[in-house]
Amino acid sequence: MKVLIVGSGGREHAIATSVAKSPKVDKIYCAPGNAGIGMIAECVPIGAMEFDKIVAFAKEKAIDLTIVGMDDPLVGGLIDELEKAGLRAFGPRKNAAILEGSKAFSKDLMKKYNIPTAAYENFDNAEDAIGYLETSQFPIVLKADGLALGKGVLICNTLEEARKGVKSIMLDKQFGTAGNRMVIEEFMTGREVSVLSYVDGKTIKTMTSAQDHKRAKDGDQGLNTGGMGTFSPSPFYTAEVDEFCKKYIYQATVDAMAAEGREFKGIIFFGLMLTEKGPKVLEYNARFGDPEAQVVLPRMKNDIIEVMEACIDGRLDEIDLQFEDNAAVCVVLASEGYPVKYDKGLEIRGLENFEGKDGYYCFHAGTTLKNGKIVTNGGRVLGVTAKGANLKEARANAYAATEWIDFDNKYMRHDIGKAIDEA
Ligand code: AMP
Ligand code: GLY
Repeated sequence: MKVLIVGSGGREHAIATSVAKSPKVDKIYCAPGNAGIGMIAECVPIGAMEFDKIVAFAKEKAIDLTIVGMDDPLVGGLIDELEKAGLRAFGPRKNAAILEGSKAFSKDLMKKYNIPTAAYENFDNAEDAIGYLETSQFPIVLKADGLALGKGVLICNTLEEARKGVKSIMLDKQFGTAGNRMVIEEFMTGREVSVLSYVDGKTIKTMTSAQDHKRAKDGDQGLNTGGMGTFSPSPFYTAEVDEFCKKYIYQATVDAMAAEGREFKGIIFFGLMLTEKGPKVLEYNARFGDPEAQVVLPRMKNDIIEVMEACIDGRLDEIDLQFEDNAAVCVVLASEGYPVKYDKGLEIRGLENFEGKDGYYCFHAGTTLKNGKIVTNGGRVLGVTAKGANLKEARANAYAATEWIDFDNKYMRHDIGKAIDEA
């Protein structure tokens, strides 16, 4: 079969790598892809938001399955457009992708269906929001309602800070229209865990757990980023936590969406916080995490195409989802200055060192070809993933492999997965 993947990051490279392993697949296209994806797929210069072009391309090439990896096209309704044209597509429709697309929606859903989450209020004007803050306890969390590249969350320690936050989200529109509405919620403390799952509208099968490191610098200092590294599984995601989430969170979310007439098919990513009062949902995403996919997918034993087709056809209950009994760590190699200002076009050396190395992966996030050479083309450049028998070994392997690669301004965190020492 012919598969089209929509997106251009490390997550899409990880998805493409899994798709390439499927004996069912003869040809992979990626729109727009990157230099690494280009080694296993044919990249086509169509942007992820160019819906008409994507649909026309999928029809012209008689694509059997289109996989949409990114939030923006999912929330914008790309799956609906593909289906209207009679094409098979993996991902939630627009009316279900709202689970990620609107934080106000997802908070109301959790409240209505008693799914554990932080206490909150939604606001659609700055005056009411500020009035509410004047009677609130601090720290407090402000969230722009819509998609904001993972940056629309402000943790405010004082009323003064929170006032400024409301102004920047709702009045100055720092995150654009994402700030037309806002959620103000209780600040929670605890360990964060990401659990990704496959969903077919009724049945949910969770994948192995993972943990992201969102801040730019060691020790969780510096600005929020798309993610500087991940490890899987999380030792804090115990059998007890899993049991609680299965009982109160996972199936409850799928059932709630169905009850609302918003049947969810695709990936639900549960961002959880393990608080003293039990696990609570921090956020939902309607897609694989980036760079969570880079540690979860290499450990999945199933044929990803079989699992995705089962989701589309509503027979996920027939799939025995299995993961390897090992661990993986992904260290992101970024360009110095990310997430603010960084150079592009710097030559990357040493990529060939990964050839034929079992259990090691070099996922491309921001790379492109220039005069026949692979150069940097984004803030997050590569995701170096390695497996190991356990987390310690995986971490040592991943950091060793980061040394195989070199480019000017190469920057990484040195403490990815360090938390596991405390487990
Ligand atoms: P989100 O995009 O909603 O996952 O938020 C981004 C990050 O902000 C999360 O990964 C947490 O580290 C932090 N965060 C979000 N909501 C809360 C909360 N209610 N309490 C404490 N931290 C939060
Ligand atoms: N790594 C977090 C995300 O993909 O949203």
